[in-house]
Amino acid sequence: MNTSARLQAVPASPIRKLAPDAEKAKALGVKVYHLNIGDPDIHTPLEMLSVLRNWDQNPIPYELSQGSHELLNAFEYYYRGLGYSFITTHHIQVTSGGSEAISLALFATCEPGDEVVVFEPFYANYNNYAVTTGVKLVAVTTVIENGFHLPDINAIESKITAKTKAILICNPNNPTGVVYTQTEMDMLVKLAKKYHLFILSDEVYREYVYDEAKHISLFSYMEDIPSQAIVLDSVSKRYSLCGARVGMLVSLNSDLMAGVLRIAQGRLSCGYIDQKLTAKLIDIPENYISDVQKEYDKRRIVLYEGLKQISGLVVHKPEGAFYIIVKLPVNDSEAFCSWLLTDFRDNNETVMLAPAGGFYVTAGNGINEVRIAYVLNSNSLNRSIQILKKALEVYGHK
Ligand SMILES: Cc1ncc(COP(=O)(O)O)c(C=O)c1O
Repeated sequence: MNTSARLQAVPASPIRKLAPDAEKAKALGVKVYHLNIGDPDIHTPLEMLSVLRNWDQNPIPYELSQGSHELLNAFEYYYRGLGYSFITTHHIQVTSGGSEAISLALFATCEPGDEVVVFEPFYANYNNYAVTTGVKLVAVTTVIENGFHLPDINAIESKITAKTKAILICNPNNPTGVVYTQTEMDMLVKLAKKYHLFILSDEVYREYVYDEAKHISLFSYMEDIPSQAIVLDSVSKRYSLCGARVGMLVSLNSDLMAGVLRIAQGRLSCGYIDQKLTAKLIDIPENYISDVQKEYDKRRIVLYEGLKQISGLVVHKPEGAFYIIVKLPVNDSEAFCSWLLTDFRDNNETVMLAPAGGFYVTAGNGINEVRIAYVLNSNSLNRSIQILKKALEVYGHK
């Protein structure tokens, strides 16, 4: 029986595709440092966990399709705290993680075959959502040499065609760590206005910016372009709640929100328990997020300074999120990442990295790059750097 051509076209995630090799290594007793995936080791706030500890409701029902009143109110409170008091519960759709929010936004803004401009390297799962929604991603390439900041307006404008419906950004950026400046954001909004495009802004790492970088949210333009701006958000990284699967799509465009709700009705609701514990975000002490931000900043410095000591690597200090793209002295980073899991051991330990080719759409780009997530504590990061250094020495002599 043949499955659909579009099913065949769905790419495997570069973040997870080497997982069977990692599982085999672990079954043999090898310790694998997971730097391939943004699944933090930082604790979920106790205020949220207490919901699970004290659970006595039986049975577990569906929730409302838009999201529970309690959670929508909590998100309204969160956005008001950021200064966006024009966002009310009507402008928020609760989703199954930011992942569903991105898919919904592509479906809601594009016809099959329409184009969305993205900046590569980009969060690899955008490729997945684009295939499943029938959207074509058109990439503007950004480069490590200028910290993956945007090229000039002409380079972006040259990619806009009659089929372009939206510009999709991730800010602060996974996988590059770039945080777009006010000038860059102004430029994107100017293009959206000139060509009547939607702007989809994935801001799941909003709180994680470092040094002088300042996060300029699409929210700050939303009242100026109310029908065009869509923010894609998630609690996964903000509260170490990856497994709760709660995200949000936020827009002032009432037609779009009504349509998105109709899709949400088709999948009934997001997790009832997940929403209950996420709603406790209103009880979390104010310093929780700033403490987590400081911890990631510490890890960022450990990783960046450590990587700089390894000869042959090209790195740029990330300005936000918790990832870094590294250019390696190898021809094929996927083969290298696979070899790390299947062949290389240092004291029976190894590291798992994400080959960066899958974070690009332009064939050949990123084939000697990897993405590293600094989601492990500083000791584990230092040990991982040591392992990577030794591995590159051995690999170079093969
Ligand atoms: C940039 C970006 N957007 C969206 C997501 C989706 O996260 P979730 O579905 O857990 O909210 C991730 C997860 O890693 C991400 O890095």
